[in-house]
Amino acid sequence: MPVATNKDKRPLIQTPLPGPEAVKVLAEDKKFISPSYTRAYPLVAKRGFGAIVEDVDGNRFLDFSAGIAVVATGHCHPKVVSAIQKQAAELIHMSGTDFYYPGLPALASKLSELAPGPGVKRVYFGNSGTEAIEAAMKLARIYTGRTRFIAFYNAFHGRTMGSLSLTASRAVQRRGFGPLVPGVTHVPYADCYRCPYNLKYEDCGIHCARVIEQRLFATTVPADEVAAIFVEPIQGEGGYVVPPPEFLLELRRICDKYGILLVADEVQSGMGRTGRMWACEHSGVVPDIMCVGKGIASGLPLSATISRAEIMNWPPGSHASTFGGNPVAIAAALQTIELLQDEYLANAAAVGEYLMNSLSDWPRRHRLVGQVRGKGLMVGIDLVKDQQTKEQATDERDQLLLLCFEKGLLVLGCGGSTVRLMPPLMIDKDHVDIALKILEESLTEIEQKGAPKTTRPPTET
Ligand SMILES: Cc1ncc(COP(=O)(O)O)c(C=O)c1O
Repeated sequence: MPVATNKDKRPLIQTPLPGPEAVKVLAEDKKFISPSYTRAYPLVAKRGFGAIVEDVDGNRFLDFSAGIAVVATGHCHPKVVSAIQKQAAELIHMSGTDFYYPGLPALASKLSELAPGPGVKRVYFGNSGTEAIEAAMKLARIYTGRTRFIAFYNAFHGRTMGSLSLTASRAVQRRGFGPLVPGVTHVPYADCYRCPYNLKYEDCGIHCARVIEQRLFATTVPADEVAAIFVEPIQGEGGYVVPPPEFLLELRRICDKYGILLVADEVQSGMGRTGRMWACEHSGVVPDIMCVGKGIASGLPLSATISRAEIMNWPPGSHASTFGGNPVAIAAALQTIELLQDEYLANAAAVGEYLMNSLSDWPRRHRLVGQVRGKGLMVGIDLVKDQQTKEQATDERDQLLLLCFEKGLLVLGCGGSTVRLMPPLMIDKDHVDIALKILEESLTEIEQKGAPKTTRPPTET
């Protein structure tokens, strides 16, 4: 079968799934790979181009997962591939911890210019989202001289010991791993669809943010001991929950009042995913520290912790990583940013709007759809057993992911019952139409037949 080209938009399933070659890989994987990974269905990828992924049996899938919001410019964008090849032929590694190379300041100055707020920002490079968060935690402590952190329930910030202390997503992620980093207090996130305080936006006065000041600071968490508040501008793993714009503004006000740093975790929501370069731009809030990962280098491992120069002023040796800011990953990131600025950022906004409009009547047309929410190409469909009670339809959601896979559409879940749509930012309206047709057919099937109870672990990250 010919290799997929960027004209191919439709899935093509020609073997039972998993196919014969996939079955062999699955057997080896089961034997040798850490069982801590969560896989919703058995996709065994061989190659990708644009929004299409081909498996080891030649089946083609339309990818609305983008390798978990990573391949921002699509799979193997020719310009990204060429930038990687050129850099790999010149210098693969030198380690920015002990040596200099031009890519480091080149990308850092670009990020300084792109990050919200005036003035020069400095950048710490890591290899993954969790490392960007670890760096932010350490930076916030050393800069403020304070030890405590505030984070939100259902947040996902990573799985290393520091970031895991902030993560409050699923018990399995923490069970057996304690004690974690002390000093973290969690409060409920601004989820207006299932308000944790049973209040109504806008009458609520953004109680979910004010509770930090009125309740925590007044009782258990002295404000002058808090180094930072960590927040996802749109909660990712927690269910693609979009807070009202006043939420971040209120957090900003509290941070300013008490000398606390506001850390925006843009690992999933950043790099153009929401139709703006950063999700916090939607509310006009300028964070003190921003963490970026996933989409930054179109699939090469890279992350960045960005803050005003005056904050990132820690002494040599206080933090570093051998591979962070690897030259090849940096070349991929510079090319990714160019593509985002030239084309894909605007595309994410336009196609995202088309996607949201196309889904707008789903809660009316489908009894299982409680809410459709999102910004740009970060869109969640929240499935419910009952639109009044909003009881989460977890089995139905898991079944939907599986049915879509069998029909050639790759989508993942998040939160208790949400399907997340996070395609590459280069998709067009045809891709959206094809994906929604498959989603709707699968949803209708479940609405008619019901969903068997699944034992599959939920997808995460
Ligand atoms: C918002 C957010 N922060 C941090 C992380 C951790 O990133 P990584 O898996 O690259 O360590 C993730 C991963 O999904 C994320 O969504």
